This record gives sequence, C-alpha cells and structure tokens, in this order.
Amino acid sequence: MKRELGDGLELDDDKARIDRAEVHRFLSEESYWAKGRPRETQDRLIDEASRVVGLYDDGRQVGFCRAFTDGVAVVYLADVYVLSDYRGRGLGEALVRQMVDDGPYAGIKWLLHTTDMHALYRKLGFAEPSQKVMERDSIR
Ligand SMILES: CC(C)(COP(=O)(O)OP(=O)(O)OC[C@H]1O[C@@H](n2cnc3c(N)ncnc32)[C@H](O)[C@@H]1OP(=O)(O)O)[C@@H](O)C(=O)NCCC(=O)NCCS
Repeated sequence: MKRELGDGLELDDDKARIDRAEVHRFLSEESYWAKGRPRETQDRLIDEASRVVGLYDDGRQVGFCRAFTDGVAVVYLADVYVLSDYRGRGLGEALVRQMVDDGPYAGIKWLLHTTDMHALYRKLGFAEPSQKVMERDSIR
C-alpha cells in the first residue's frame, strides 16, 4: 500500500523496500530508545513485524515505523522516526496515520510507549492508558 505525498515524498508498507542499513543507523545511533541495538536484532524486528511503513524522498529512506499484532485484539506501534531535516512539516503524523488508520489494523486497540511525543499520538486517537494496563520490564 503506497501513498504519494507530493514533492517526491512517498509512504509505502512494502517490507522488501526498507533500507535496513539506514533504519539500523538511525535507530542504533540517533534514537533515545534503541541506542546500540545490534543490526541482527534490528533485522529480526523488521522480519517479525506485522507491518512496517517507510517514508521515502525520491526513494531514499527518511522515516520508518513498525507494528506487531495478534491481528485480532491488540497491535503495538514502535520505532517511529523521521530524519531531522524532514521534521516539523506533518510527515511524522502522516507516517503514523498511514500505519494506524490506513491499514489492516485500523479497527483494533493500539498501544505504544513514548517519552515526549504524547501530543503527536494524541492527534491520532491515542490517550493515556486506564488503570487496567500493567507492564513487566524486560529482564535482560
Ligand atoms: C516524533 C517525530 C517522528 C515527529 O515527526 P515530525 O515529522 O516532526 O512530526 P509532525 O511534523 O507530523 O508533527 C506532528 C505533531 O507531533 C508533535 N511534535 C512534533 N515535533 C515535536 C516536538 N519536537 N516536541 C513535541 N511535540 C512535537 C506535535 O503535536 C505536532 O503537531 P503540531 O505540528 O500540530 O504541533 C520526529 O520528531 C522524530 O523522528 N523524532 C525523533 C525520534 C522520536 O522521538 N520518535 C518518537 C518515539 S515515540
């Protein structure tokens, strides 16, 4: 599923199109949540993803997000980014909207974690969780 955004920008959920080296570079070097993530771990996260959406500028990978799900009850959104030169013009919102609203999981419950981008996700229908939500931290 592709979507043209104009000016050579495009959203695409074709997993085969992901520039894995570039996604790994950004996430392992520039993100706050996946610093130092090994390339093989990143590749596995893409392999196992239920859906990925890439943002491309004339074919160059400039943004990314991934989701995984049981396909029925809940879907989790992760590793959302847009390169810094492309920020502040609605592309992050378009990227996440394509994942959340324009795909096979639009109707089920979405979860995510964020340190500081609550405002972005609020625009897309996310809200603070109820008291029913619990989490267990990883032990490795
Ligand atoms: C988060 C990120 C993807 C947003 O991309 P973007 O293209 O700049 O986002 P948009 O231009 O579509 O902005 C959409 C909304 O996000 C929020 N937002 C964007 N940048 C923000 C910032 N620096 N601080 C707080 N909120 C911000 C705003 O609510 C904004 O809506 P507004 O323009 O109406 O105020 C991008 O800043 C990024 O890659 N950051 C580094 C990685 C990261 O933090 N990812 C999120 C992990 S949860």
